[in-house]
Amino acid sequence: MRADWPELSDLLLDVDPETLARRPVKRAAVNAVLEKHGMRVGRRVVDAIPGADVLDPDAVDGVLLRSHTELQRLSFEFQNGVRLLQLLRPLLNVLRSSETERPLRIVDIGCGLGFVVRWLAAYGELGDDVELLGCDFNPALIRLAQKLTEEEGLRCQFRVTNAFTLERRAHVFLSTGVLHHFRGDDLGRFFQRQAQAGAKALLHCDIKASWAAPLGSWIFHQARMREPLARHDGVLSAVRAHPAAVMVAAARAHGRPLVYSVFDGAWSPLPILRSLNTLVGLDPSLAEPFVSALGKSKARLGALT
Ligand SMILES: C[S@@+](CC[C@H](N)C(=O)[O-])C[C@H]1O[C@@H](n2cnc3c(N)ncnc32)[C@H](O)[C@@H]1O
Repeated sequence: MRADWPELSDLLLDVDPETLARRPVKRAAVNAVLEKHGMRVGRRVVDAIPGADVLDPDAVDGVLLRSHTELQRLSFEFQNGVRLLQLLRPLLNVLRSSETERPLRIVDIGCGLGFVVRWLAAYGELGDDVELLGCDFNPALIRLAQKLTEEEGLRCQFRVTNAFTLERRAHVFLSTGVLHHFRGDDLGRFFQRQAQAGAKALLHCDIKASWAAPLGSWIFHQARMREPLARHDGVLSAVRAHPAAVMVAAARAHGRPLVYSVFDGAWSPLPILRSLNTLVGLDPSLAEPFVSALGKSKARLGALT
């Protein structure tokens, strides 16, 4: 596997980011990409999806739903809710002093089944002045996220929409497992759109790039995942994970006026113990109060510049 290989989940769903219309996905077009990169395992996964010239959209939804359901195991085991909460709590306290607008809006970009948003709504105790919104292009994932929210009686919302074209600004953008999907110019645009949208803070949690990440991911996926696409994309995600320096350079080049650093981004001799890291972006006026609100954890955040 190589970092320039595309993930199958990105090839199988094609949604217009402006109109949100789902476009048909031609089998020949997908196969041409897989062939170009020599992705033989990926080809077998796609061959198993029904549909002649066009991949059957219901079958694709089934594969993506099962894969994201399995992906929640990873979010659960790696405590993604707790992980973001330890940064969100101090951040919200700082925002409460600096922002007059209420509610404080937190938007999860590419929320999938919304594990993190639902976890924060269930256990985060973020306060009544906080709004939690998960956004994704995939209607099947959002339908299930919304259904689970209703079943659990949670105070959060999910929407099929482009997270960058919301009618009201997000104070905080966050994501989990999304950053590595954006590469090159798209990564720069990802940060540019959030800064232009007037966000005060960004928290983007993703796999920490290291020699151990692909091996660790392979072991985890063999043990805990059964859906072929989930296994394929899970290991490829670890290969595609951005090194901290790449994330920060793209953010600083395109995402001003915010300042940036990485939480848990420091090199470690045993990277298996720190398998995720979080890119932190902050309005410059929040940097000093946020670092001080982090308390002991501030040692885990690099310099914000
Ligand atoms: C890897 S998946 C999400 C994983 C999910 N965060 C989790 O942890 O389970 C990436 C998702 O990002 C969504 N996405 C990408 N760009 C987006 C945007 N601008 N607005 C909303 N969703 C977006 C895609 O539709 C896709 O479902």
